[in-house]
Amino acid sequence: MDHFLYRDGALYAEDVPLTDIAAAVGTPFYVYSTATLLRHFQLFDEALEGTDHLVCYAMKAASNQAILRTLAQAGAGMDVVSMGEYLRAKAAGVPGEKIVFSGVGKTAEEIRVALEGGVRQFNVESEPEMEAINAVALSLGKVAPITIRVNPDVDAKTHAKIATGKSENKFGIPIARASAVYAHAAALPGLEVVGIDVHIGSQLTDLAPFEAAYRKVADLTERLRAEGHDIRRLDLGGGLGIPYTRSNEAPPLPLDYGALIKRTLGHLGCEIEIEPGRLIAGNAGLMVSKVIYVKSGEGRDFLILDGAMNDLIRPAMYDAHHDIVPVIEPVPGVEPQPYDIVGPVCETGDTFAKGRLMPPLAAGDLVAFRSAGAYGAVMSSEYNTRPLIPEVLVNGDQFAVIRARPSFDEIINRDTIPSWL
Ligand code: LLP
Repeated sequence: MDHFLYRDGALYAEDVPLTDIAAAVGTPFYVYSTATLLRHFQLFDEALEGTDHLVCYAMKAASNQAILRTLAQAGAGMDVVSMGEYLRAKAAGVPGEKIVFSGVGKTAEEIRVALEGGVRQFNVESEPEMEAINAVALSLGKVAPITIRVNPDVDAKTHAKIATGKSENKFGIPIARASAVYAHAAALPGLEVVGIDVHIGSQLTDLAPFEAAYRKVADLTERLRAEGHDIRRLDLGGGLGIPYTRSNEAPPLPLDYGALIKRTLGHLGCEIEIEPGRLIAGNAGLMVSKVIYVKSGEGRDFLILDGAMNDLIRPAMYDAHHDIVPVIEPVPGVEPQPYDIVGPVCETGDTFAKGRLMPPLAAGDLVAFRSAGAYGAVMSSEYNTRPLIPEVLVNGDQFAVIRARPSFDEIINRDTIPSWL
């Protein structure tokens, strides 16, 4: 459920017509709904009610500080994967003890900054990284809390580029080696092993792979405890999928996911952390774009938009589907027609949809890409020297620009010309 609905013939974000935002900030832009962000966070929080838990929002999905603060004020922790994300979370007001540091290759500098600024735990991905954390912690006279990410060798049954839990993926340590690696960690004085971490992939639309992974984590918890480790925290990663098409998708609900966690792991008495990103932000954001031209091609019509692959790369990168809807509601009975919906970037890959049925549209009309709140703005680039598009946050009948569109001067003046030229 989200808060982007038609009212009086026009699409609204909560109580704000998108046409008002377009008039104020120009197109294209991203717009997020506070009520939807909070609702999705609360669904997870409620799903784990009765269990000691922390929902650590995976901020890689949408990392604007206004979004982070909205969620942090509701009680969320953060899952970060780089120094930039760590510093951004701190800048948004998230205390270090609510920040989990994940990521495959944390550098000594990243580790130092997090240890100095405070961190809930590092999710360790390899033995060399474990030794690096130990060394930095000792040099600072600190002890670093860690979990070790295990790779459970489970097929997440999602897009190959976002599956992480198979043994051939680069993530975590093989679960079969866990005893040896935990023994190694326990011998390092700069580390305090607090638990186990697992994350098997993103956009999972079936609970079965989660269940398979969590059962393995339950067995491992008992084995490691028997080996003398005080396993008291389980970080279960993120990955719960969202519906990208309104009509026919019904992925499992956070409530069912929470019940699965309690069923598979509840008896262990561990504190539970989860790291959802997409389900919190995905359907809380739209990308709004304007039709520049309608072009008649060979047997097809192209809608050429002012938004492009550099603004929303998911269709080009993962063949992802995003529903695209007109901002002005089509009048009932109007015959839809197929369009190839493209951006102006000079690549064939800059195609959002082929043969998509839309009401007849004309230059100047606005369209909205649904489900663009997660992995949208954060993955955008300035390819073709196109400015990063603004982000807007709506809250009831208010809206605010939370990242302004940069000027061309700002972009161009970042380059420096060497003296010999
Ligand atoms: N925790 C870890 C360790 C992760 O690697 C990820 C996502 C998450 C949590 C959050 O997963 P989520 O709940 O959002 O599924 N750019 C891709 C998705 C990449 C996901 C990477 N890791 C896309 O646009 O589909």
